[in-house]
Amino acid sequence: MIQAEKKGRTIQMKEKVLVAYASQYGSTQEVAEAIAATLRESNLAVDLQPMRKVKSLAGYGAIVLGAPIYMGLLHKDMQSFLALNQEALTQQQPAIYVLGPLSIDEKELQESRAMLDKELAKFPWLAPLAVEMFGGKYNPARLNLPHRLIASLPASPLHGMPAKDLRNWAAIQNWAKSLVMKFQMASLAPCGLSRTRAGVPQSGEMEMKNATKIFTSTFGVIMALAGLEHGVGEVLQGNVAPSGVMILSWPESAFFHSLAGESAMTIIPNLLLTGILAIFFSLLLLVGSILFVQRKNGGLIMILLCIAMLLAGGGIFPPILGIIIGAVGTRINAPLPWWRRHLPLGFRRFLASLWPYSYTACIPSWFALVPGVPILCYFFGVNNPVLILGILFFALSTLLLTMFAGLAYDSERQNDSRPGRLVPAVI
Ligand SMILES: Cc1cc2nc3c(=O)[nH]c(=O)nc-3n(C[C@H](O)[C@H](O)[C@H](O)COP(=O)(O)O)c2cc1C
Repeated sequence: MIQAEKKGRTIQMKEKVLVAYASQYGSTQEVAEAIAATLRESNLAVDLQPMRKVKSLAGYGAIVLGAPIYMGLLHKDMQSFLALNQEALTQQQPAIYVLGPLSIDEKELQESRAMLDKELAKFPWLAPLAVEMFGGKYNPARLNLPHRLIASLPASPLHGMPAKDLRNWAAIQNWAKSLVMKFQMASLAPCGLSRTRAGVPQSGEMEMKNATKIFTSTFGVIMALAGLEHGVGEVLQGNVAPSGVMILSWPESAFFHSLAGESAMTIIPNLLLTGILAIFFSLLLLVGSILFVQRKNGGLIMILLCIAMLLAGGGIFPPILGIIIGAVGTRINAPLPWWRRHLPLGFRRFLASLWPYSYTACIPSWFALVPGVPILCYFFGVNNPVLILGILFFALSTLLLTMFAGLAYDSERQNDSRPGRLVPAVI
């Protein structure tokens, strides 16, 4: 397990990173070296190699590929590398950078970007984790004969061009730093991935690295466990009629005293049956959250189960939150254009960057609420309403934050995976 430092926190990646480059005159190689150095500063183990020397991609947890553009085409080493490694690169999303533009003129930048789009479109199976274009380096004194001939043509844009180096090292370093987080998120995902070019799986495809799916699964399980706890309390009350629609799942329990006996509601005129149904629906929610939530209509089924839980003793908070979580579940694998259209890029990225932290903070906060609070009260006599409200507030707010951060994260990931999208980082 390799550990990487990110802003003082330790993140983990299972395997090494490969930085492979194609380069004619060395400028793309120097960028590869800078990227490798930045990744190593983050404590990642990095192999740096010319593309044509890479024998296998096995054993790499993340891949960065760099190549220049020549005459509108990706360097031939990059073209053959992509073609030869299609299978491995379909499983493993590489981060790609390209060197090209020798001018800061917006029109020429656009042209270089259009060339890159066209080139990457030749590999429709490719779904990069990130794509970036940086300014290139040019030295007429070092050109080989064919390039010298091209540059000597009066019609060539290189004709009479002086030596220049438009590589923006700060942008290169920032991009490399941004990859650390992306690699971590990719390695956190529970299953292998198989993706289309736009970063969204085809219908029927099983799993992908997807914050929305992780969110829905995790918190679906937590709400199901809470529903089960309610159901057990109602079953233990036996074959009696409830006093009304609103009931307490644990009215006599000293353990649940701190949670006011755990409110619930039921439309069934029998507490034993209410409890059995709450357990039944909660178990279905539990299994569905783990196994089926990413399937077609998974989110919708989750919502229906939560409504059933709400009407049959599964508590108040768990099913209501479960309905919201199920609504998020309907967005698993769905394109998320709204986020890109309505939220400013900087805010979206900030929100997306919060996802792993809020997710990690949110899970323990729910367990701090149940069974944490009853344990504190029952065994240690700590019955502080401010503390309980504080934990409840923290659990609810981190849940909402995790939900929005996950959606922003997925929307960014879809966005980054589009070969045509380039952040103007040149010069
Ligand atoms: C003959 C020649 C043709 C080039 N054609 C393009 C091009 O079509 N589009 C582009 O964006 N850059 C083009 N470039 C710029 C290179 O991509 C840039 O110089 C790059 O930094 C070279 O990388 P290298 O030193 O790793 O070989 C060209 C450069 C040369 C010398």
